[in-house]
Amino acid sequence: MSATDNILEVKNLQIHFGHGDDVVRAVDGVSFHVARGETLALVGESGSGKSISALSLTKLTPRAAIYAGGQVLFNQATDMLSLSDRELRRIRGSQISYIFQEPMSSFNPVFTIGWQIEEALKLHRKGVDRKAEVKRLLDLVQLPSRMADAYPHEMSGGQLQRCMIAMALACDPELLIADEPTTALDVTVQREILNLLAELSRKVNLSVLMITHNFGIVSDLADRVCVMKKGKIVEEGKTRQVLDDPQHDYTKQLMAAVPRLNPSRQKSASAEEVDDEMRRWMPR
Ligand SMILES: Nc1ncnc2c1ncn2[C@@H]1O[C@H](COP(=O)(O)OP(=O)(O)OP(=O)(O)O)[C@@H](O)[C@H]1O
Ligand SMILES: [Mg+2]
Repeated sequence: MSATDNILEVKNLQIHFGHGDDVVRAVDGVSFHVARGETLALVGESGSGKSISALSLTKLTPRAAIYAGGQVLFNQATDMLSLSDRELRRIRGSQISYIFQEPMSSFNPVFTIGWQIEEALKLHRKGVDRKAEVKRLLDLVQLPSRMADAYPHEMSGGQLQRCMIAMALACDPELLIADEPTTALDVTVQREILNLLAELSRKVNLSVLMITHNFGIVSDLADRVCVMKKGKIVEEGKTRQVLDDPQHDYTKQLMAAVPRLNPSRQKSASAEEVDDEMRRWMPR
């Protein structure tokens, strides 16, 4: 991999809401890149501009957002911000996938999980053996293939989260954007899911942009970290380097806010613990 093999390059991005005296600079001159196969974490407190940055990469921002400047280069050539809606839809469906905060809202309650993954395959991967591919995808996210026949409400929060990852992978994306995929889950399940994402990024050479306000989560998962405050990136570096020697006071504050976990559970939860957690989420 050459040093310049960046799947994503964001240059001086500026996203505003409102005009004149009332302007909110939600993203205020942000630059960062994601190398191919790399996991980059965007960390910052609520309202710092993480989601708006992530959504603007494929122009999924709320209608009121004003693109005031900057460039988003995908695969070093395509300037996302100058594409038509049609071209953006094509890229969103096939090359860039999002995982959003609320797994339940990503699925239609009246269809089985397998059916919904198959629909995604029909759209984006014509010609593939859909039944076999659903099985492969469920296997990839460590769910039994019988889960294909389950309805969303029959699954635990953690299982649904895994299905959402399977769904995001169904279109075989090059870049996966996970915007706090786990806030609704217990911290044990949270870690399992993020471990899974990191493992997948290694296994299928996926590039991941991970968004969170929790520094604890990125520590052993992200290759690099960008710290965001009030629409700006205040610190950027390799995860280890930022954690060991944070330069900015704001980074230190965020790190101090991480709830201490029992170290034995911090690495990875046992299968038993995860099962317990899953059971708590099962409908009674
Ligand atoms: N539709 C909107 N209209 C006006 N302002 C908005 C809108 N959406 C977001 N903003 C503003 O943009 C800024 C950044 O919001 P953003 O959602 O990116 O924050 P965030 O870092 O993702 O926060 P969180 O951790 O809570 O998800 C905020 O100050 C917010 O008030
Ligand atoms: Mg957000």
